Amino acid sequence: MKIALVGGTGDIGTGFAVRWAANHEIIIGSRKADKAKESAAAALALLGERGNVWGTDNGSAIAAAEVVVLCVPYEHLVSVTSDLKASYRDQLVISPVVPMSYNGKFFEFNHPAEGSAAMQAKSLLPGLQIVSAFHTICAAALQALHRELKADVFICGDEPDAIDLVAGLTQEIKSLRPLKAGPLAASALVESLTPMLLNVARRNKIKDAGITIVSER
Ligand SMILES: NC(=O)c1ccc[n+]([C@@H]2O[C@H](COP(=O)([O-])OP(=O)(O)OC[C@H]3O[C@@H](n4cnc5c(N)ncnc54)[C@H](OP(=O)(O)O)[C@@H]3O)[C@@H](O)[C@H]2O)c1
Repeated sequence: MKIALVGGTGDIGTGFAVRWAANHEIIIGSRKADKAKESAAAALALLGERGNVWGTDNGSAIAAAEVVVLCVPYEHLVSVTSDLKASYRDQLVISPVVPMSYNGKFFEFNHPAEGSAAMQAKSLLPGLQIVSAFHTICAAALQALHRELKADVFICGDEPDAIDLVAGLTQEIKSLRPLKAGPLAASALVESLTPMLLNVARRNKIKDAGITIVSER
């Protein structure tokens, strides 16, 4: 697949690029095409020059892709969705975006008016399939190419085929397990796990924390 990483010059975007470049064409997007090209070269260096990664401006990256991952902080969700609407066609959009802030004592979830970042993306991009996933996956762990993450990815969405596609992308990353977490309207529950996870990690000195559901397997 052709996968655009909007704001893919950042932490989580770099992680997705190195994990998916062996099987897919990865298009790193940025506000500045030159910065995206530098990030693509850096990702290829991490991959030992094996993989298909290139960089361009966010709008061109979206236009060239079948799947778009929104790799920007929540504050910039509008600028990479509605402001770039002309670049979207019928792409599947994946949102790992977490609306949260640090209040000086702890990280807290900041409910958007629509309930979650994913529901806001849906209202900004009407008609497109939006799937919400990867919120509790640590970018540093993702970037460490050979590390087994041993974590679960909670996926919310309304279209079964789109959920299956994101579950497949999840399974391509070593030891990540995709778990269905409900319709897109349930995304706030998943997004709000991230500030909880960061509060626990910080207080208990847990590096690169993740979440997995335990059971008698
Ligand atoms: N980091 C994690 O461990 C992690 C884990 C799970 C989910 N997430 C979610 O993934 C998203 C990205 O996180 P991140 O840590 O990768 O973010 P980041 O590194 O802080 O930023 C990602 C990119 O956002 C772009 N950006 C910055 N200001 C912008 C603006 N004004 N307008 C448009 N784009 C702008 C920048 O790209 P250019 O300068 O190249 O345009 C930057 O490289 C967030 O929503 C976060 O909640 C992160």
